[in-house]
Amino acid sequence: MSSGDVRKKIVGPDDAQPREDVRATDGDASLEDAVYGATLRPRTFEDYVGQRQIVENLRIAIDAAKRRGEPLEHVLFSGPPGLGKTTLANLIAKELGGTLHGSSGPTLEKPKDLVGILTALEAGDVLFIDEIHRLGAVVEEYLYPAMEDFQIDFVVDRGAYAKTLKLPLKRFTLVGATTRAGMLSAPLRDRFGLMYHLDYYEPADLQHIVERSARVLEVRIDPAGAATIAERSRGTPRIANRLLRRVRDFAEVRADGVVTGPVADEALRREGVDERGLDRLDRAYLRTIAEGYGGGPVGINAIAATLTEDLETLEDVVEPYLLKIGFVQRTANGRKTTAAAFAHLGLTAPSGGDGPGLFS
Ligand SMILES: Nc1ncnc2c1ncn2[C@@H]1O[C@H](COP(=O)(O)OP(=O)(O)OP(=O)(O)O)[C@@H](O)[C@H]1O
Ligand SMILES: [Mg+2]
Repeated sequence: MSSGDVRKKIVGPDDAQPREDVRATDGDASLEDAVYGATLRPRTFEDYVGQRQIVENLRIAIDAAKRRGEPLEHVLFSGPPGLGKTTLANLIAKELGGTLHGSSGPTLEKPKDLVGILTALEAGDVLFIDEIHRLGAVVEEYLYPAMEDFQIDFVVDRGAYAKTLKLPLKRFTLVGATTRAGMLSAPLRDRFGLMYHLDYYEPADLQHIVERSARVLEVRIDPAGAATIAERSRGTPRIANRLLRRVRDFAEVRADGVVTGPVADEALRREGVDERGLDRLDRAYLRTIAEGYGGGPVGINAIAATLTEDLETLEDVVEPYLLKIGFVQRTANGRKTTAAAFAHLGLTAPSGGDGPGLFS
């Protein structure tokens, strides 16, 4: 049995990725996400909502590669968690008619882990490496010739007798995903022919996703209900799907099973999700800066220590969306909350609290 088979066995037949990332505050939600992730994950590019430019460019590249009978160039997806990177990797494999072999940076600890997977690949297969920025330097070295020349270089003996043995590989496509493109080494980044950054989804796209998921889960929902969930999903499909499940529970128990605008509103408020889609951790983060540090600037380490929260979670999950909606600013001296954030929290901003003015 190849290592790819082993992995598939662990994660189940339909979901060739080692883990579904979830927000650190979710607790038991991670298992539920993994189960529903497989059910709700789009199976075709037609089902994949939004990110239009990326999907279009990707489909052109796939069609061109297929016409030439060549493997698709290696693809790198970057962007915050839950935006559909793993989904795209699955769609690429399907479109190429190959098998997706899932792995991730932290699980490829030793060169032999990577070599095992590489040698199991057939022509046209997709090797998916999630969190590729966490690949160790030694393992990464083995990836370079594999990506560039479809071969593995082994150095045997030492000094004057050192020889390089070359082991040929089938022509595969590597799909890497990362929440931190900036942490990739230059030599690795340069070996990707296609690079796409996924941005947060617009509410209209999220509404489509909620309506599609509601059909799959057989939830009765009206447009206002779907819009309410979409607006509070932090631009993120995975969150939209999760909130839909919470709202469904509430609707079934308290509202005849139909999700309307007011039902969604009430259910989400009970979940601690406010009208901007911020949850308890988002608000705790903002309050720490706004109240604990007078609006900042304050270093991210101090914020993490105050919240006793993981630094990576704050940087990868919490901050990107707050930056995007203009609640937080990153400065050379640390993080600052903006006037909009103070207003949202119902606090009064300190005078001049929104950064230097035009002429100061
Ligand atoms: N464009 C989309 N259209 C419809 N549903 C989507 C789309 N993108 C993502 N989803 C839904 O969101 C879930 C999360 O997507 P996915 O696992 O691909 O995210 P990801 O970017 O790989 O996240 P992570 O970085 O956390 O691994 C999927 O299970 C799927 O149901
Ligand atoms: Mg993923």
